[in-house]
Amino acid sequence: MFYVTTPIYYVNDEPHIGHAYTTLIADALARWHRLLGEGTLFLTGTDEHGLKVQRAAEKNGITPQEQADRFAVRFVDAWQSLGISNDDFIRTTEPRHHRAVQKLLQACYDRGDIELGHYEGLYSVADEAYVTAEEVPDLERQGRPVICMQEENYFFKLSRYEQPLLDWYESHPGFVTPEIRRNEALGFIRQGLKDFSISRTSIDWGIPLPWDPRHVTYVWFDALTNYLTAAGYGTEDPAFPVRWAGARHLIGKDILRFHCVYWPAMLLSAGLEPPRAIHVHGYLLVGGEKMSKTRLNQIAPAALVEVAGVDGFRYHFLADQRFGPDGEFSFEGMVARYNADLANNFGNLAARVAAVVASKCGGVGPAPSADSPLAEAAGRAFEETAAAWERVAPSEALEATWRLIREANAYLEANEPWKMEPGREVAAVLGDALEVLRLVALLASPAVPGACGEVWRRIGLPGSPEESRLPDAAAWGGYPGGLPVRKGPSLFPRIAV
Ligand code: ME8
Ligand code: MG
Repeated sequence: MFYVTTPIYYVNDEPHIGHAYTTLIADALARWHRLLGEGTLFLTGTDEHGLKVQRAAEKNGITPQEQADRFAVRFVDAWQSLGISNDDFIRTTEPRHHRAVQKLLQACYDRGDIELGHYEGLYSVADEAYVTAEEVPDLERQGRPVICMQEENYFFKLSRYEQPLLDWYESHPGFVTPEIRRNEALGFIRQGLKDFSISRTSIDWGIPLPWDPRHVTYVWFDALTNYLTAAGYGTEDPAFPVRWAGARHLIGKDILRFHCVYWPAMLLSAGLEPPRAIHVHGYLLVGGEKMSKTRLNQIAPAALVEVAGVDGFRYHFLADQRFGPDGEFSFEGMVARYNADLANNFGNLAARVAAVVASKCGGVGPAPSADSPLAEAAGRAFEETAAAWERVAPSEALEATWRLIREANAYLEANEPWKMEPGREVAAVLGDALEVLRLVALLASPAVPGACGEVWRRIGLPGSPEESRLPDAAAWGGYPGGLPVRKGPSLFPRIAV
């Protein structure tokens, strides 16, 4: 089972391209694994409890529930407009989630890992986390104000899990990827772990503790549990163990400590296994800085879709930045990449092949030749694309697929079928090019599903790339020939600069 999750996003904020970035990668991975014929569950959703949301509601003069309802819809709509294929959308205010959180809390409590204590300290509302005095100047500089909190809290005995966590990392080398993020997580653990408070009495916007309802659950304990809820934890669903065994979380590095340290400890305490993997990416920077409300540098996906289209948007964020390090978003960069990779390469290949099939083959696509010089490049493209998706490296997967497009364009330029007389020779060249188009439509469909479906139809194939199954469908020679080929309007009209 391939069970992929995104963070659940706070409902105090509008969806922006940072949220879209993680969600798109999860979407492309889910689509790739569906092509492989694996059982796939793709989850995203919204994080609706906690002080941050309560404060946003107060500011807007509405109840926290109204705040959550209003903003959850914005995320649902944003993902729909980007062609995100999530199988489930979880909201932490749903009853199914209350049940799962209470069950997990009770399991940790019964294990003796939750104890009552008193807390007095500094709290960053933006991060929903206690912070140290040394961290305050930095946080305030980032526009993340710190308040004093004094409370009776229940604590999770994280300090007991130092060694179990180190053991888990040791025996599961792929638990956190890429390597730099794994080392960051190990660094936290080796520094020594402090117990963390998992309840609040100062607010009531949350899930009550089952054994002491004066307290509501700390928003991070609540939020992390969403991954279990959607897999069926807390119900009689027999599929839960299979789903949970395949769980992979995609996150940004901002929430590494919660996912890579707190979460596996909570799960071990409750007698559950940590997820199979946590894949941690860097920040998308705008003007050299992380996007934030206070800096007013957030970009809405719709603003870019207007320029580059849904596929152009999707391609850019999957191809532009390596998974792991930070990367800078620039509008000029997006336009340049769109024009080069989509308009000039992919779009041009599709257009010129269809045009020459019309002029030299009466609009009927010929079959590829078994010993085509492109067959080897196609085989390599599939191997490399597959390996890159497997290691969660979308930009490398697309590079591998695009190498095949470039080879096919070069092959056409070398053979110049538009100058040939109609006949066997021209049919052989065009059959090979059509087969490359079929393969590219298949391999690129997780990234640019709209254009790939369109290419599929234009070269006369029945069904859609999504109905194909890898690896069989990637074998050279799948294009049968004898199908009507249509040119149609430009797949990726050039963006004027
Ligand atoms: O942290 N670059 O929610 P959140 C890349 N509710 N990714 C970015 C980004 C950027 N500039 N900005 C946001 C929370 N993201 C919690 C999560 S999960 C159990 C609870 C993405 O709304 C990235 O995935 O602040 C980051 O980790 C997430 O949005 C934070 O979303
Ligand atoms: Mg955040």
